[in-house]
Amino acid sequence: MLTGGAGYIGAHTAVELINQGFEPLLIDNFSKSDRTLLKGVETIVNRKIVFLEGDCRDAVFLNTLFSKNKFDSVIHFAAYKSVKESVIHPMKYYDNNLGSMITLLQAMQQHNINEFIFSSSCTVYGQPDHIPVDEQAPFKRAESPYGATKQMCERILEDAVAANQNLKAISLRYFNPVGAHPSALIGEMPTDVPDNLVPYVTQTAAGLRPKLTVFGSDYSTPDGSCLRDFIHVVDLAQAHVKALEKINGMPTRMEAFNLGTGEGVSVLQLVKKFIEVTGVKLNYEVGSRRPGDVEKTYANADKANNLLGWKTKLSLEDALTDAWRWQKTL
Ligand code: UD1
Repeated sequence: MLTGGAGYIGAHTAVELINQGFEPLLIDNFSKSDRTLLKGVETIVNRKIVFLEGDCRDAVFLNTLFSKNKFDSVIHFAAYKSVKESVIHPMKYYDNNLGSMITLLQAMQQHNINEFIFSSSCTVYGQPDHIPVDEQAPFKRAESPYGATKQMCERILEDAVAANQNLKAISLRYFNPVGAHPSALIGEMPTDVPDNLVPYVTQTAAGLRPKLTVFGSDYSTPDGSCLRDFIHVVDLAQAHVKALEKINGMPTRMEAFNLGTGEGVSVLQLVKKFIEVTGVKLNYEVGSRRPGDVEKTYANADKANNLLGWKTKLSLEDALTDAWRWQKTL
């Protein structure tokens, strides 16, 4: 079962799972999505997918679902992810992100479902002392309630695994997922003004926003803008397939993996690369820092390479080309 199956990463993962012969059932409450990506998934895989509308905080919904269907594993994508919104509405974030995790783990235990893959984030590290950051790095105090929910969810998961000898869990710490499926049938669909860089870039290029602001020019990085590890969403989706395939052969019953390219790219480099690969004009300016931003972070993804047999195959150029192709369909 995939929670948040109608969302950006959930939909791309559904495609990769179906292509590998898995039979996922997707659930979503459409709080930050609609049916568009579900239709896109069906077109890509050329078959109907199994989908149910429901909320992971709804124990009755989950228990009914788990009574009627036999699941081997759960991949839990469903969560709110806006750093900015989480600062304004922290309780909304704690309620949704922690509530869904707890209710889901309780329902899984009741129904003896014992494999769990969690959508975590590099936000758990805060500003790491050493980059590239590996999985041993300590969790710094989270910069936002959103970040705190990811740290807390990992802790909840650790405690659940410690208390239940049958449960196995993998936490996947995403760096910055970008791009879209090369078919342009699924991609990122912000329901509001995007906070994330790439949708803001593509919407500006499409004329939907007047101007992109690059937040900060005085960071201690080569060009003064922040450094990130931008990973193509299709590569990211494929890591979930590997995690499912390998969850039974892990050294311990709870493992965390960084999912990134291992390369730091600055915001300005990304903006220039977008202009170069698409040939479109982009109105942008360099502005002041955005509060709460980490200066630089990128992944040491050796563990995922060694234990999951996964590494990224697609480039930033691929991601930006695909993101732009998708934007033009909207
Ligand atoms: C943050 C979280 C990440 C989370 C993601 C979900 C951290 C370190 N990272 O990513 O874990 O999964 O949100 O939304 O907490 N930028 C601009 N102009 C814009 C938009 C963004 O310059 O209009 C810059 C930002 O300042 C940042 C970079 O682009 O330096 C990436 O920003 P964004 O896409 O929002 O992702 P993160 O903040 O890195």
